[in-house]
Amino acid sequence: MSGQTVKNIALSSDGSAVRIIDQTLLPGRLEYIELRDREAMYEAIKSLRIRGAPAIGIFAAYGIYVLAQSYGRGEFFARLDDDCGYLISCRPTAVNLSRQVERQRALAHAMAGSPIAEIVQALGREARAIHEEDVAMCRAIAEAGLGLLHPGDTVLTHCNAGPLATSEYGTGLGPLLLAAERGVDIRAYVDETRPLLQGARLTAWELMNAGVDCTLICDNMAALAMREGRVQAVLAGCDRMAANGDAANKIGTSGAAIIAKHYGVPVYILLPSSTIDLDRPTGAGIPIELRDGEEIRSLWYEKPMAPEGVKCWDPAFDVTDHDLITAIVTEKGVIRPPYDVNLKKLFG
Ligand code: MRU
Repeated sequence: MSGQTVKNIALSSDGSAVRIIDQTLLPGRLEYIELRDREAMYEAIKSLRIRGAPAIGIFAAYGIYVLAQSYGRGEFFARLDDDCGYLISCRPTAVNLSRQVERQRALAHAMAGSPIAEIVQALGREARAIHEEDVAMCRAIAEAGLGLLHPGDTVLTHCNAGPLATSEYGTGLGPLLLAAERGVDIRAYVDETRPLLQGARLTAWELMNAGVDCTLICDNMAALAMREGRVQAVLAGCDRMAANGDAANKIGTSGAAIIAKHYGVPVYILLPSSTIDLDRPTGAGIPIELRDGEEIRSLWYEKPMAPEGVKCWDPAFDVTDHDLITAIVTEKGVIRPPYDVNLKKLFG
């Protein structure tokens, strides 16, 4: 399976940098880059060299370990706190980023009386633990998600919720990758996911590498595909799920879910528990990242395709209301409504 051969996040061989695939170069070039300082790490997250909710959390956990190696005794906690706040401020929607960075910060503060070298070592161990937990959670999500599909089904994917967005298997793509491994015929319509094309550039690349039969469509073709009975399920990942099951994910997920409800197609949201934010009662308070309108105006075009100076609104995520979601799939299995009750029961 491609996710097992392509390691999208690791430490460099001497442990002094975080090594990632530069996802902005895919599918044309598979290139690794190493990040050592906090500005480079911030830029890598901001410009989506590393992206996907679980992946940015894992990356930042390793990042804190790398940065902590250069802190001196007197300044250790001041610099740690500053770097943690700086990395967290980079992207607001995915809860994994703040959660994993805060986990590192809490661990270090709990060891405040210990030698610095020991604290740094513990941060390295914790980053690896966060990474390994994600591998295990994604594997379990893939198993549970595959149980919802039938041989011969075709699913609609949105954005990229594959190994590149996590560690291995991914969330939304996990069932497809597992099916391919087992020789089960599950196919996909991959929507391109404007404006940053994570579907076209990354999902299509991952599915083709894994031998999954996939067909690329523009986002606005999903309704016709569902009306014609070409899609048996919508599979999507999540960046932050509120306590009632409202799910923030890549802009356009909510539109796909509304269309799916209209045509009676089930919508499955697949996510690890590290993406669930029970402190938010509903999706209403989830911060939505706004990005540079140039992504809409000109990014993928040879020349700008909109009048110069036109105003753009470029929210990176939307919130899918819980009543549009047929089931939520986590490492603990398939969860059905009422989500407020069942999420609390499992993760409260
Ligand atoms: O802006 P991105 O590419 O980081 O957005 C990613 C998504 O919306 C994914 O669907 C989400 O993080 C789930 S990934 C397992």
